[in-house]
Amino acid sequence: MRTLDKLLITGGNKLQGEVSVSGAKNAVVAIIPAALLVEGVCRVENVPDIHDVTVIVDMLVELGATVKYINKNTIEIDCSKVNCYTAPYERVKKMRASYYLLGALLGRFKKAEVAFPGGCDFGYRPIDQHIKGFEALGASVEIEHGIIHASAEELEAAQVYMDVVSVGATINVMLAAVKAKGTTIIENAAREPHIVDVANFLNAMGANIKGAGTDVIKVIGVERLTGGTYSIIPDQIEAGTFMIAAAATGGDVLIKNVIPKHLESVTAKLIEMNVNVEEYDDSIRVYRTGDIVKANVKTLPYPGFPTDLQPPITVLLSVAKGTSIVNEGVWDSRFQYVEELKRMGANIKVEGRIAVVEGVKKLSGAPVKATDLRGGAAMVIAGLIADGVTEVYQLEHIDRGYENFELKLASLGAEIKRVSVNSKGK
Ligand code: EPU
Repeated sequence: MRTLDKLLITGGNKLQGEVSVSGAKNAVVAIIPAALLVEGVCRVENVPDIHDVTVIVDMLVELGATVKYINKNTIEIDCSKVNCYTAPYERVKKMRASYYLLGALLGRFKKAEVAFPGGCDFGYRPIDQHIKGFEALGASVEIEHGIIHASAEELEAAQVYMDVVSVGATINVMLAAVKAKGTTIIENAAREPHIVDVANFLNAMGANIKGAGTDVIKVIGVERLTGGTYSIIPDQIEAGTFMIAAAATGGDVLIKNVIPKHLESVTAKLIEMNVNVEEYDDSIRVYRTGDIVKANVKTLPYPGFPTDLQPPITVLLSVAKGTSIVNEGVWDSRFQYVEELKRMGANIKVEGRIAVVEGVKKLSGAPVKATDLRGGAAMVIAGLIADGVTEVYQLEHIDRGYENFELKLASLGAEIKRVSVNSKGK
């Protein structure tokens, strides 16, 4: 049973060699539900082999879709036989991105019933901007007994101004608007690379979306989306995780299959911290020749420094020379992992959305848990640089979003292996 596994890491090895980045989790978890809007078969390539994909594929199959695995990273989705617009709590609670079923089912059937989504716990995670967008398009939305009911006679184009920059709401409104009558304009839209990827996927299927990647997106409604083939962009958060791991261990790693532009904020921050970063067309080399020095980090929507790399970069800062300030600008509560890091000797004080990180000379191996997906990746990086052995528990979080994480790290020279834990947790 995967959920009972733990990672055993013996720290001290420098990561060296080449690693290839998988397809982007936060793109694919939107693109798979988006297939509900398509009449023909969608072939999706570069799909990461991660648990979140299994969950969203299962949800689609439960709604009546046929999903065929051509190989472990290529799937064909046929939603022509779907005739159900209800996504039950048992599945939806497993992941945040199940909220994309709302926009996709609404766009297809003008009706959607989806339980309130689960996912990593970073404090309150509202979906008011998603609802505001659906209502602007003419849907009525009610929440009853934990189920979101959305329905519309007709979906009509609208001008939607997002009060907060939201990845999920921007994508959800695109999904609902893609077949609505007229031109929908989303203002103050999120600009993450996965927003562009979802728009490119929809356009490849016959949609007419302009401006994705800027803060004004125009969705010109079309009658129908037909099938096609699409390849998911590389995961910039996975790439950033390997960049930080390479820097932390003082190694020398070429990270392949990346779009360097998507990582500019990370590259700039690492350079500021005295790490060497070289950019090539579709790869990035990260290596270190001196000590890590302190830096302040504020997470922001793209193109700012990504919140999803805040836990890994904090591990790096925990062994930097000097005191750094980390300001979490996106989520209310994303420092849960810090308590685990402190068990390994880190000196960090958290006050609300701010962490003050006093660099220490060394971390020391300890049993720790993955509190969430990126917190889990951070614990693994901490284990790679700590003295002695680190055990990381609750791997289900890491498995949600990283394909073959420990195998990729082992191929770079890390001493890391997954072992089964018996019922007593040993
Ligand atoms: N927000 C609202 N109202 C809304 C929606 C969001 O106030 O209706 C607020 C949130 O509370 C938060 C901010 O807006 O403070 C940004 O939230 P956003 O909607 O952008 O986040 P999300 O779509 O729920 C996605 C990623 C997260 C990533 C964030 C920010 C997916 C499935 N998840 O979440 O990824 O942290 O964008 O970049 O795309 C991860 O991969 O580990 C992860 C958590």
